[in-house]
Amino acid sequence: MKHFLDIHKTAATDLRAMIGTARAMKTARNGRPKGAPDDDQPLAGRMVALIFEKPSTRTRVSFDVGVRQMGGQTMVLSGKEMQLGHGETIADTARVLSRYVDLIMIRTFEEQTLLEMAEHATVPVINGLTNRTHPCQIMADIMTYEEHRGPIAGKKVVWCGDGNNDCASFLHAAGQFGFDVTFTGPETLDPEAAFVAEARAKGATITIDRDPHRAVEGADLVVTDTWVSMHDPESAKERRHNQLRPYQVNEALMAKAKPDALFMHCLPAHRNDEATSAVMDGPHSVIFDEAENRLHAQKAIMRWSLGL
Ligand code: CP
Ligand code: NVA
Repeated sequence: MKHFLDIHKTAATDLRAMIGTARAMKTARNGRPKGAPDDDQPLAGRMVALIFEKPSTRTRVSFDVGVRQMGGQTMVLSGKEMQLGHGETIADTARVLSRYVDLIMIRTFEEQTLLEMAEHATVPVINGLTNRTHPCQIMADIMTYEEHRGPIAGKKVVWCGDGNNDCASFLHAAGQFGFDVTFTGPETLDPEAAFVAEARAKGATITIDRDPHRAVEGADLVVTDTWVSMHDPESAKERRHNQLRPYQVNEALMAKAKPDALFMHCLPAHRNDEATSAVMDGPHSVIFDEAENRLHAQKAIMRWSLGL
């Protein structure tokens, strides 16, 4: 079963092939009317379940549109409205859904929910974000970097702020795609040590530097994300903002990066908190290409999962 659970759990050659497929499918779509199906309809006759236990704009719309462009159909399910949200086990839900649909994408809280779904489903399961990781986003980010600047191997990526789920998948990608990551943020919000160790074991240089201005020197790519993720308690907001304010990505910080450095943010953003609008809308920013590339990257991931 080809589940897409995380970047470090997927073979590097497969990841590289998916980026190639995504770029080829994007090119093939160029010039077609928005919403028109691709010539290639690998998902014709297939049904995909998209389960959301958290809010979403990009993941929801890009998966839905991606399936339809490839000739398939979707059902978008809210966790709360399913029996899953009212006591039915994940294992039973996985087994039942597998009788109806060909593929399951789930956005959830605990990673264990995703893992149990994958263990018991007899169709592929794709991780649409958990509290711990966000692999589809980082596949789109790698694709975006390479479209603008060529191979990401050997480049310096600087993560500013919270060492969260998005940051974790960047660390996984560093090991698989061969780039280096410098994390700059407060010690209390460091990425998980296991993820750092794993990237290092695969040969990536992972640096932790509390000084954001020093960290960003020579960066090829500067990335940040919201200071309060969907799974973080609202009560932690003030403390997090106070801790993270020195790590805001603003023009002064971007000026320390290489002149041709890119800026990324997975969105949704809280403008003028983690990054200023001047940076988000400035010459380094590729945030809307990232959002678009969710569509293309996930189409490639779905094809890989289904062997199509
Ligand atoms: N970046 C991302 O996953 O966005 P959504 O929460 O809107 O899906
Ligand atoms: N770190 C964010 C990413 C949202 C796409 C969160 O988990 O809320």
